[in-house]
Amino acid sequence: MKLWGGRFTKETNQLVHNFNASISFDQKFYKQDIRGSIAHVTMLAKQGILTEDEKTQIIDGLLSIEADVENGTLLIDGTSEDIHSFVEANLIERIGDAGKKLHTGRSRNDQVALDMKLYTRDEVKEVDALLKKLLVVLHRIMKENTTTFMPGFTHLQKAQPITLSHHIGAYFEMFKRDRSRLSDIYDRMNYCPLGSGALAGTTYPLDREYTATLLDFAGPTLNSMDSVSDRDYLIEFLSAMSITMMHLSRFCEEIILWNSNEYQFVEIDDAYSTGSSIMPQKKNPDIAELVRGKTGRVYGALTSLLTTMKGLPLAYNKDMQEDKELSFDAIDTVKGCIALFTGMIDTMKFNAPVMEASAKNGFTNATDAADYLVKHGVPFRDAHGIVGQLVLFCIDKNISLDEMTLEEYKAISPVFEDNIYEAISLETCVEKRLTIGAPSETAMNQVIELNEAYLNQ
Ligand code: ARG
Repeated sequence: MKLWGGRFTKETNQLVHNFNASISFDQKFYKQDIRGSIAHVTMLAKQGILTEDEKTQIIDGLLSIEADVENGTLLIDGTSEDIHSFVEANLIERIGDAGKKLHTGRSRNDQVALDMKLYTRDEVKEVDALLKKLLVVLHRIMKENTTTFMPGFTHLQKAQPITLSHHIGAYFEMFKRDRSRLSDIYDRMNYCPLGSGALAGTTYPLDREYTATLLDFAGPTLNSMDSVSDRDYLIEFLSAMSITMMHLSRFCEEIILWNSNEYQFVEIDDAYSTGSSIMPQKKNPDIAELVRGKTGRVYGALTSLLTTMKGLPLAYNKDMQEDKELSFDAIDTVKGCIALFTGMIDTMKFNAPVMEASAKNGFTNATDAADYLVKHGVPFRDAHGIVGQLVLFCIDKNISLDEMTLEEYKAISPVFEDNIYEAISLETCVEKRLTIGAPSETAMNQVIELNEAYLNQ
């Protein structure tokens, strides 16, 4: 059934119908559409615009539609233009004249604005719950690895020793910020557009506060034109999800490196790896690569919606129908990626001896050797130069700083004494970094305790 046949004298061209229709994708929010309609008629009856009997008939009809879609007896087919028309037509078929009153004081413009918001609001919560599960896994790895030494990198060159706990902790902070972004978005979007009509409200005495409360919103939106044409919350959500994907992608990139034959820092579980059809020895990190690869899709959805919205005059324009497919795809992609990533990292084995051995070579303790000299009265810039000479000496001999003899040290600077070995040991290099945010076990335990409280709140 069409909702708007009255002023037309010809049938719609079939290609036009197909091009215009959104039912193939907006059926995704049939539950939200029905929930919104129930709130709307409940309010209409309270305001005396519908009778109690009409309200009951409509609500029962809507609930039976929902049940039938769920149990598979009612198929959402492609003949209706959109989910709103489908539900309304089906309601009229089921309950007759009372069904024709459902749309009193409402437009599809405020209806779709509401449905999409209700859908997105639920999804914001789901993405948040998935991120929390990921944080719980990261927290466990952090707790178990406060003394698992590994090299920290800058420019992908070994820089200074850190611990696995510290490295994973960096991602903990990123995903924590992602959750905080979602919470901000939730609060900002949580206002109800229902009752805004096509663009200019309605002449019925609607109680918009009441429908907002029925639908768990903080209140009604305050401008009816903005209400029907606001898609900011979706853009914000796509932006927050793009940032999450960027974080996941960086993490995946590291896991791919760590899992390579050259690093061997980690081994991805068999259940989360795949093989090669030709090279029998291969165990590939496909999940990490796919998560990294899918990041582009989510960025694409953000760019697409920003571009769709940028030239639109107020108020509703059909362009906005384009907000759905890419958002749905992005949301499903992000949820899948977080869940798979969580499973992969939860089952991954960290190869502590290899990480520690790697931290021991590559002069990750060179800064600490310079600091040793500074503590013995050498100005930092001179100390930097002296340690540079030590490094050159070691490269030439193919040894590490702690393999040099004291005589060799003294030949370069007489300031060195026997306690240099202790000062540049891996343990010392990490354990002396005590400020909050630094990698020592003491500092990490403080952070882990704060994280524990955060996860329990
Ligand atoms: N399918 C439409 C959309 O997603 C619903 C709103 C239609 N409104 C209209 N005035 N044609 O935006």
